[in-house]
Amino acid sequence: MGDAGTHDACSLNLLYLRSSFLAMEPADHFISLARQSGGGSITERVQTFILEHCINSIEDEGTVYNLTYIKNILKKVITAAESTHDVVLEGLYERLAYYLTSHMDDDLLKERSRICRQISFLCSSGHDNKCLSSMNLVVPLQCSLNMLEGDTGCALWPSSLFLSELILSYPMTFSNKFCFEVGSGVGLVGIMLKHVGASKVILTDGDMSTLANMKLNLELNHLASETMASQRTYESPNMVECKHLPWESASESELQTYHPDIVLGADIIYDPLYVPYLIRVLSILLKPLKFCSSEPKEGDMSCYRCTQSTEDRNGDNSQNEAKEAPNAYIATVIRNLETFNYFLRLAAEASLSVLDVTATMKPKNLLPYMLSYDRSTVHLYKVSFLCT
Ligand SMILES: C[S@@+](CC[C@H](N)C(=O)[O-])C[C@H]1O[C@@H](n2cnc3c(N)ncnc32)[C@H](O)[C@@H]1O
Repeated sequence: MGDAGTHDACSLNLLYLRSSFLAMEPADHFISLARQSGGGSITERVQTFILEHCINSIEDEGTVYNLTYIKNILKKVITAAESTHDVVLEGLYERLAYYLTSHMDDDLLKERSRICRQISFLCSSGHDNKCLSSMNLVVPLQCSLNMLEGDTGCALWPSSLFLSELILSYPMTFSNKFCFEVGSGVGLVGIMLKHVGASKVILTDGDMSTLANMKLNLELNHLASETMASQRTYESPNMVECKHLPWESASESELQTYHPDIVLGADIIYDPLYVPYLIRVLSILLKPLKFCSSEPKEGDMSCYRCTQSTEDRNGDNSQNEAKEAPNAYIATVIRNLETFNYFLRLAAEASLSVLDVTATMKPKNLLPYMLSYDRSTVHLYKVSFLCT
């Protein structure tokens, strides 16, 4: 958690503006917030804020930043201010001239196709938007510049923003739980889970370059497990584990060793080829281990899994406690209804119940500045094994 303080409407707008810049939101969205901060135009006061608290501040911090992005922001700010005949600060022209004449960005871009975004979660405790006491959790994330060309898992998708807001909104659901994510991508969900006190977090992905990027993000957030020269990963309760887990080749015996309390997945239902494998992985992870403790009543999804052997059950072994059956929270944008219906059909065949909980488990709006993120497009499903 970063800075805490009370914000009036005006400084709240500026907080959004800085958060938008750090998250590398599209320039047009940044300009909209800049105009909002200036009451309709990008005033000298707002320009000074942009120069000092956005552009200069990241340079002072030494953050590796995408210079093309800064250049674009500077151009758009200057153009927008000129278009409303506002005075443009000399400092903005100077910074733009500096970036235009330096060739650092070209060299850097050749080396790096990734950018470092800083995602701020703004948690308010106030009752209205005018006077908020905000707590600012900032998560640095290395993401891909290129969302679609083979780098799917290195981009940040809306469903993982949604799951992150959900975790921060319902921390008790996840704290002290063993959480296991499939198709984790950049790793943001795992960072949130650790933040709310999950007892153990395993993130998985089937793509090796995604996994390498995820590990880097855990390092950036001081959550990486140490891998020694022997390649053995030393488990630590404060760290997040990353595993290579392609759904199509993950072995049943490996999946059966985990016993997570909660399984998570964000934006993973999109390729019909992999839907059967995903269903298989989910059903193994969610299956109660030995038996259901009681006959489920109609509509009652709660069954129990138990780690007891038959001998233990007959004896008096108090260490073996019945454990609630795991649930999965799957957040998704339904881009292709046919693919989603295929997921539902295979889930039913695998005795998985899929409940739409979008309306009942609404997350708080913790990313109010992120105009590129449309929370309303994301659906949330609670998946569990049906005891019959
Ligand atoms: C659209 S991205 C979503 C990433 C992340 N969950 C998010 O929401 O930002 C889908 C992720 O699922 C992973 N994935 C796709 N097919 C997979 C498979 N067959 N096995 C394991 N992971 C897979 C991809 O590598 C990618 O990281």
